[in-house]
Amino acid sequence: MSITDDAELSLWKYSDSLGALPDEYDGLPDDERKERTEAALEELDDVVVLGHNYQRHSVTRHADHLGDSLQLSRLAAEADASNVVFCGVTFMAETADIVTDEDQRVVMPSMEASCPMAGMAENIQVDGAWNELTSVVDGEDVTPVTYVNSYASLKAFTAAKGGTCCTSSNASDAFEWALEQGEKIFFTPDKHLAHNTLHELGYGDDDFVIWDPWEENLGGNTPDEIRDATFILWEGFCQVHERFGIEDVRETREQHPDVNVIVHPECRREVVEAADYDGSTSTIIETVENAPEGSKWAIGTEIHLTKRLARENPDKEVFGLCADGCSDCNAMRQIDPDFLLYVLEEMVDGNVVNRIDVDEDDKKLAGKALDTMLNEL
Ligand code: 13P
Ligand code: SF4
Repeated sequence: MSITDDAELSLWKYSDSLGALPDEYDGLPDDERKERTEAALEELDDVVVLGHNYQRHSVTRHADHLGDSLQLSRLAAEADASNVVFCGVTFMAETADIVTDEDQRVVMPSMEASCPMAGMAENIQVDGAWNELTSVVDGEDVTPVTYVNSYASLKAFTAAKGGTCCTSSNASDAFEWALEQGEKIFFTPDKHLAHNTLHELGYGDDDFVIWDPWEENLGGNTPDEIRDATFILWEGFCQVHERFGIEDVRETREQHPDVNVIVHPECRREVVEAADYDGSTSTIIETVENAPEGSKWAIGTEIHLTKRLARENPDKEVFGLCADGCSDCNAMRQIDPDFLLYVLEEMVDGNVVNRIDVDEDDKKLAGKALDTMLNEL
């Protein structure tokens, strides 16, 4: 079965979505599901549907707005609707809940869409690491920067220590900002994004250390290594983007000598170095859209975005940098179109299911880190 064929996706439902879906939504024909989703949205005049660029077509066709993490944070903050239906992963919906007003509700079609990278930096681990770290360097000299792909509690921790959040669109601005606050950056959780960003700013491999939370002492470093490093990078990564290898770039170039390779900065450093371009999902979209007719593009990011680019740019040849299955994000996939229909029809009946409600204390502090990102970078 093709992983990316929308028509076949309902076959995946039971393995994809752990949340219960009423039987009546099981196995609906696509045209009926589409019509009922449109009808529900027609009735709901106080709802905005936001979708991340990695969502599948059967979901994005119902979105009012699509975007990358930064754009969706801004769209949520500007939304007037009382109900924001968020088709993305949990950390994005949490962000939406933090930046919207108290009387606005954020719901997700499925509560199981949790980014594994966010789970790689639990707040309790980061807190412990910070205490250890600041036993060998002055905490005043270290500014934490947290990728938005993290839970609200870690964003709150980051704000409490004077840091900021960033997305893949503004990581270099966040680094520049943080280096004005102090001489070191403690970055969680994506080591590859940080590695690529520090190179973009002219730093090199001697300037960072990796902090592995499973190592006993100082994340596997000596006190001197920590003192000498400008960047301390948490041992976290995206399982989807890490699968792209340098051999994928080589093989693609051998088969298509005239290809342009563009990848997301969550890819390994050597892959980003070997690519022609790198950038956030919105940068990838813009670059391909603005490319000359007839050009060829190998895309190193989640497969549903690649499929969308191929569909929307028929004048170009667009394909994945590795086979479809290698770049399928199982977290994003949990947003099943059946679940979207379910939450919308429940809303029509006056029931709000799958509401995202961030803890009030976390909300205040995490909001501070997001505010720095949205307004100061
Ligand atoms: P963007 O911010 O580029 O949309 O990326 C989000 C993400 O989860 C990438 O894996
Ligand atoms: Fe998380 Fe990677 Fe999926 Fe993005 S692509 S949501 S970082 S697992």
